[in-house]
This record gives sequence, C-alpha cells and structure tokens, in this order.
Amino acid sequence: MKYINYFKMTIPSLSRNESFARTVVSAFVSQLDPLVSQLADIRAAVSEAVTNCIVHAYADSEDAGKITITAKLSEDTAYIKIKDNGCGIENIKQAMEPLFTTKPDEERTGLGFAVMESCADKVKVSSEKNKGTTVNLTFKIETKEVL
Ligand SMILES: Nc1ncnc2c1ncn2[C@@H]1O[C@H](COP(=O)(O)OP(=O)(O)O)[C@@H](O)[C@H]1O
Ligand SMILES: [Mg+2]
Repeated sequence: MKYINYFKMTIPSLSRNESFARTVVSAFVSQLDPLVSQLADIRAAVSEAVTNCIVHAYADSEDAGKITITAKLSEDTAYIKIKDNGCGIENIKQAMEPLFTTKPDEERTGLGFAVMESCADKVKVSSEKNKGTTVNLTFKIETKEVL
C-alpha cells in the first residue's frame, strides 16, 4: 500500500477533545476532496470512536488517559486508527451489537459501533482486557465529479 500522506497525534481523554479530534481528521481527509456527505460520515464515525475512549476506556481512572489517532491516506482511501490504553472490551462481538451498552444509566444509546459501521466502509476492532482498544476505520473516498 502506497500512502501519500499521514499524521499521528496523541491527546488526553477529555470530552472537549472529541470535537477537536473529529475536526482535525476531517480537515486532513479533505485534501482527497471527498463529498461533503462523506466528510460528515467521517466526522460521525471518528466522534463515536473517540467518545468511547473518553467515556468507557478510562472510566475506572481519575486521570485522563491517552488517545492516539493515526490517519493515512492513499490516492482514494482514508485509513483512520483510534487507539486507547484503557480497560479493553471483554466481548467485542457483543459490544458491537446495536443497542448494547454497559452504561445504560448514563444515557448511552449503545449505537456508537452501529454508527461507525454505517458510516465507514470497514470497521475493525481489536481489544485486550486492561491493555486497551484499537478501532480501525476505512473510508473509500468518492471524489467530486469534475465537470
Ligand atoms: N474504547 C473502549 N474501551 C472500553 N470499552 C468500550 C470502548 N468502546 C466501546 N466499549 C464498550 O462497548 C459498548 C458499546 O459501545 P457503543 O456501541 O459505542 O455504545 P455506548 O457507547 O452508547 O455504550 C460500550 O458500552 C462499552 O462497554
Ligand atoms: Mg459509544
């Protein structure tokens, strides 16, 4: 795979960083000239993945943890990786089922992974208990038609 550009950044798991993260990623992917609707999908998916790091990954700790976001671009595809070093997910298949949440009392909808799956072309989740979780999102970029 030949990448034409990439970036990597690490931010603390603070809720104010959710909008920062989605804005940075969408600004970066914009250079491939995606459709506006696709940028909205990218923002929505990144927002859900980063929110999960903030809300779930470090829920047991008083301090913010690290969220590392890596984005790589080929000519027509954006690969976005969102990684935390938090509590991990015991049962990934169950966690990805629509409406499944471990925090029903905190008004979580259980739809974060469902949103990621509907927005991205591919969603891959790997996780290890007490080591952390990595979400890989792949977006095939549909470029605007040149008239
Ligand atoms: N980064 C993460 N670290 C630990 N657990 C996670 C993470 N992301 C998701 N989960 C688990 O997967 C469940 C489902 O996530 P999601 O579909 O986004 O729904 P919600 O966030 O509304 O609970 C969460 O309730 C949580 O238990
Ligand atoms: Mg969620």
